[in-house]
Amino acid sequence: MHQATSPVVLRKPIGRHGELRGLESYARSDQVEGRFGRMFRTLRPAQFDTAILHDLASEMTAEFEATPTPETQVDDEENTGISAGYTYLGQFIDHDLTFDPVSSLQRQNDPDALEDFRTPRFDLDCVYGRGPSDQPYLYRSDGVKMLQGDVLTGNPKDAKARGVPRNTPETGEPARAILGDPRNDENVIVSQLQASMLRFHNRIVDVLGSDNFDEVQTTVRFHYQWVVLHDFLPTIVGVETLKEIFGTTKDGNVDYTKDPKLRFYKPKKQAYMPVEFSAAAYRFGHSMIRPIYRLSPTVDRLPIFSTTSESLVGFRKFPTNWAIDWDLFFKPSDAPAPPALGKTRVQPAYKPDSSVVNPLGSLPSSVASNPSSLAERNLLRGWRMNLPSGQSVAKAMGFAVIPDEKLKVGKATAADKNKNKSITEVSSKFKDNAPLWFYVLAEAQQQFVQDDTPIRLGPVGGRVVAEVIIGLMINDSHSYLRQDRNFTPRREFLSSNADFHMTDLLRQARQA
Ligand code: HEM
Repeated sequence: MHQATSPVVLRKPIGRHGELRGLESYARSDQVEGRFGRMFRTLRPAQFDTAILHDLASEMTAEFEATPTPETQVDDEENTGISAGYTYLGQFIDHDLTFDPVSSLQRQNDPDALEDFRTPRFDLDCVYGRGPSDQPYLYRSDGVKMLQGDVLTGNPKDAKARGVPRNTPETGEPARAILGDPRNDENVIVSQLQASMLRFHNRIVDVLGSDNFDEVQTTVRFHYQWVVLHDFLPTIVGVETLKEIFGTTKDGNVDYTKDPKLRFYKPKKQAYMPVEFSAAAYRFGHSMIRPIYRLSPTVDRLPIFSTTSESLVGFRKFPTNWAIDWDLFFKPSDAPAPPALGKTRVQPAYKPDSSVVNPLGSLPSSVASNPSSLAERNLLRGWRMNLPSGQSVAKAMGFAVIPDEKLKVGKATAADKNKNKSITEVSSKFKDNAPLWFYVLAEAQQQFVQDDTPIRLGPVGGRVVAEVIIGLMINDSHSYLRQDRNFTPRREFLSSNADFHMTDLLRQARQA
């Protein structure tokens, strides 16, 4: 029996991270490609009802844990394959791709986003906004460097740490961030990632010795796009999927210089944001969110949300001694292995499995409300977007369909493996009919062998995520793939392994 269902309202709170203009009016037709389109146009929408989606969301939301696993013990929900920084890099990328630059007045006038709607690009407009002429308050008076916020302390390795710029409000009001995209202040971690991108931009100004904003911006974007292709994607989808798309070099690596072979994401005219990506596959990141993070060795671990104590919730000024030590979020490829446990370890992300942590079952009202369960919002959104079932997408892609009894709901851990229900045990209406977001997560979970098995996205999820990211980049005439296929990051930025990963970008940011 299911409990009373939440109304399907999906209200928009002020600082929301989803809910995009035009999302409700995505293109279904074979002839039209709007900003939101579909990859699998001929597949029938999966049919559900609010009650079964509510029940599935409840099963996917883990039970409340009053005492988090101590850092001195192995936590079986941690993913040995992906460290926690990639969760927030993933959120940052989502914001970059889905940023809607128009004013709220224009949004009211054009709720379906029929006009003045930019194509999704890896252009960092979440950092740059509409540029120094249109939004000068994001820039220093030279019109080239980005403004930064308060000095942050707490990380001795980052003497120049700064937060994002904020306003100085009246007493009792939160100090809101002044950013290209206000969503990048949604939590303390993504906020500091945004601050690091501002610093990286300023570092590039210094390194190039240039006062040419366009030149600096292009250099910053190319380095960021390189990180997306060479670090984020292999980490999330694995190199084998990338080799299938790009082909391999003689020495067996992904050959990024070749034209990618995209089988499923093939925009006819303009690149568009497919609903299969935005309302399902790319939401994989929600299951990787941990309930608690350590920002630096000097500050106690903090929960993502809390009504009773300090938390990482955003849209406000946080204590100035909370500077992030990124070495606890991304493992430098050329540094000696950090300790596996304790205050200086690299915190792993949680596994991309069909379980989200308990705090995401009731989001703070500043993030989303009615329903406040993130899993329920994702499932309802996918249904309302008329997404096809996971099984029909797998079939259309030519992948083996996972039998219902193997589509498990819950954590990919040895302790839960045998008690997790299958999706049809939640409701028989899910027979051969799993919501796409759930399917992508349950598919990743098939990799589970034991608690320390690294888990990435599986064939359907990995291919959708990789094809859309690569497809958006190759269709963007300003991306480095189109402007300069032989671009490589600046030599002095490379690690001693000759890589340029997120950790190397952050190392440069620390110098500004
Ligand atoms: C870190 C904490 C996060 C919170 C609290 C959060 C919360 C939310 C909420 C409330 C929505 C709107 C849901 C709806 O009404 O449809 C949303 C949408 C979305 N989220 Fe997250 N999210 C987080 C991280 C992430 C991460 C790590 C990823 C991916 C790696 C991600 C990807 C998405 C995507 C693709 C959407 C769809 C809408 C859009 O394109 O902006 N989120 N998230």
